[in-house]
Amino acid sequence: MSSTNPHVVWHNTSITRQDRETLMNQRGCVVWFTGLSGSGKSTLANAVEVELHKNGIHTFLLDGDNIRHGLCATPKLLEPQYGETFSQRFGLGFAAEDRQENIRRVGATSQLLVEAGLVVLTAFVSPYRNDRERVREWVTSKGKLGDFIEIYVDTPIEVCEQRDPKGLYKMAREGKIAHFTGITDPYEEPLKPELHLKGDRPLEELKQEVLAFLKQRVAVG
Ligand code: ADX
Repeated sequence: MSSTNPHVVWHNTSITRQDRETLMNQRGCVVWFTGLSGSGKSTLANAVEVELHKNGIHTFLLDGDNIRHGLCATPKLLEPQYGETFSQRFGLGFAAEDRQENIRRVGATSQLLVEAGLVVLTAFVSPYRNDRERVREWVTSKGKLGDFIEIYVDTPIEVCEQRDPKGLYKMAREGKIAHFTGITDPYEEPLKPELHLKGDRPLEELKQEVLAFLKQRVAVG
């Protein structure tokens, strides 16, 4: 059903985002890490979250590998419980349209968490510019400009491939994984990310750069 369905009507809640933010003394936003598999975005997002948490900021981290076990589960994971037809329809793989829906679901979820007043960190390859831009539009249209912070973890593919923490590049080279970003599928670089990080630098340095950027954004001033 489309949102133009006259029977689906937006309903405002009594407690607003502002109320929740005031209670927590912080500002919600989405910190969207994008980059190749093995670029270090999950590690960096985790390190940043630890630091924010230590500083009393309420956060939530959505990580690609984890989300693909639940909200955006693969057909294979869904099948035992839901059967083949359902799993093929709602399970997500890595073809462009599947990634589009993955990112759409994650974007919608992130927006809800921002509405809850949280600092949401996400770590998804999110290789398509349009998909990321749609999330930016969704989040900022429901909130305000500045609620979506795109961080490009720009690690050369040679470095990612050498790291290959899950052995996926090797498998992709052997033709055992289809649609592998950077090998058989494209990665569209952000044109104007809020932060562009050269990813093959020490984690501590990258973390400090992100935290310095976020400092102005998350605290209530
Ligand atoms: S996204 O493109 O839809 O944003 P997402 O971040 O959820 O991808 O998942 C990427 C993770 O799934 C990678 O870190 C990697 O571990 C794994 N993966 C499995 N197959 C692929 C593939 N074909 N392309 C990229 N990542 C894959």
